[in-house]
Amino acid sequence: MSTGSLLAADLAIAVLATAGWLAGGVASAARRRRLALGLAVLALLGTLARAVTITALARAGWWFAAEKIVVATPLSLVAVAVAGARLLRPPADIRSAAVPLLFAGYAGSGALLVTVLHGYPVSPGVALLAVAGVAAATVVSWRLLGPRPSRAVSRAAVAVAVAALVTGTGLTAAPQASPAGTHDHEYRQAQPVGEPTKRFTLTAGTATVRVSGRDVAAWAFDGQVPGPELTATVGDVLEVTLRNRDIERGVTLHWHGYDVPNDQDGVPDVTQAAVSPGQEFVYRFRADQAGTYWYHTHSVSDVGVRMGLYGVLVVRPAPVTGVDVTVPVHTLAGVPLPVARTEPVEAGVPVRLRLVNTDNTTHRYALAGAPFRVAAIDGSDLRGPTPVAETAVLIPAGGRYDLVFTAPATPVALLVDGRSVWSTGEVSTATGSWPVLDPLSYGTGSPVPWSRFDREFTLVLDRGLDLRGLLPRYAHTVNGAAAPDIPPQVVGLGDIVKFTIVNRSLVVHPWHLHGHHVLVLARDGTPATGSPLWWDSFDVRPGEVWEVAFRADNPGMWANHCHNLPHADAGMMLHLMYR
Ligand code: C2O
Ligand code: CU
Repeated sequence: MSTGSLLAADLAIAVLATAGWLAGGVASAARRRRLALGLAVLALLGTLARAVTITALARAGWWFAAEKIVVATPLSLVAVAVAGARLLRPPADIRSAAVPLLFAGYAGSGALLVTVLHGYPVSPGVALLAVAGVAAATVVSWRLLGPRPSRAVSRAAVAVAVAALVTGTGLTAAPQASPAGTHDHEYRQAQPVGEPTKRFTLTAGTATVRVSGRDVAAWAFDGQVPGPELTATVGDVLEVTLRNRDIERGVTLHWHGYDVPNDQDGVPDVTQAAVSPGQEFVYRFRADQAGTYWYHTHSVSDVGVRMGLYGVLVVRPAPVTGVDVTVPVHTLAGVPLPVARTEPVEAGVPVRLRLVNTDNTTHRYALAGAPFRVAAIDGSDLRGPTPVAETAVLIPAGGRYDLVFTAPATPVALLVDGRSVWSTGEVSTATGSWPVLDPLSYGTGSPVPWSRFDREFTLVLDRGLDLRGLLPRYAHTVNGAAAPDIPPQVVGLGDIVKFTIVNRSLVVHPWHLHGHHVLVLARDGTPATGSPLWWDSFDVRPGEVWEVAFRADNPGMWANHCHNLPHADAGMMLHLMYR
């Protein structure tokens, strides 16, 4: 069983067991003896079964089990002792078992709330809060359902609740680490990069675009979704003028995957101010990395990108021979883009399909009709890519794959999630059952260039209640904090930096570091054996642990976030900062 399924199974069992205890308590209060005993036995079995799931999670990594061991296990042990005793000798009047069963239910609920609302890392304050809640709920039930507890007992319980509450809130409200409070600096002046050799102007504005015969309200560059394709040749100096016509919430250009100097990175309030309606900003950078990239606004990026403010950036090493097509996939107002296109290609012609996923979730791509090689991922060429056939590839949000093949005499089609988006003719192949390529074992390996790391950071991805803002929100968290309260990762120029990224949530987080490409070292403890993978976007699935590393060679303040952009907006965003 994968760690992701274990996380889900453990949560499901905890919910059922808790519901069983609570329902059993209510049934006993109503003197429904058989029902109460039946529910309680099921709850007891569920509670005991968690010994298995929690142990397995702990073996996968302390991150996955911490609060379950520190909070849920002791609470469950007490609950089993108290309620289990009643089950061994059911009292003549089943109503007297109500409070012990309810107590077990409150203990389960308290532990569940710690997992669901707080997550990782568990703090003593939160554990005490859970204990306070369980004690308080038990005292109230006891008073309502009698037999009345003795004065001493109820005083003791109230004292436990109050003490836990006071210490608990005191601890959780204590300021954690200092936030990334470095945003009110002067933005650095653009560095000189030489005379521009390629100039573009992109005007952002609200627009109505026609997709699949439907008029859709969009935000667009030059009135089109996607925006104009920007192409350059290695060695060009790009100058891109961004104008904002009427996007009230501001616009910027972020060059996703392109390791530009920090002042050109287009992150509002970090590297520049967002461009307001009527204003402009000029980006200049040298095109020194070939490959497939994309650009998008980074101002309210979850809304802006979804509404259409994105386009492709392709830097080619030399004039193209053969067919070279970009396929940016996007969902605009529920309509999947691009619409299917057929382009006949003569047999023997080399074809490169540049696949870009501009959505927030993973897409599955299948090339039917020809064996192909994955020539590059995230703009970096792979080493020794071998031909594969009848194999799908999964591209994370923000990611790019370049597929190359020689056109056969028969038609070829590219399918995204089963839908044809590009073809050379009619193809009718079912691709749904194809296996998925694992890039970590694809191509020719080469040793990791570093044997030690100057800085190591662990990022535990989870969900939790964030009470620090004006309104409480159910945030996506990193190490228990949500933006803007996640401490920045501080590195020095030249440091070799390692990230361990752990997903203990139940959803995929496509991780994206600005300004650098990270080398994939291992997934779930298994080292990558294929071609070196230098990525800027990669899916960390539930229960996965990724180890990646990079050289800190691009000074500045860089966003480091989940590229499911609503997650980034809901807290999953921090910064890498040079000392
Ligand atoms: Cu494509 Cu900060 O993102
Ligand atoms: Cu995410």
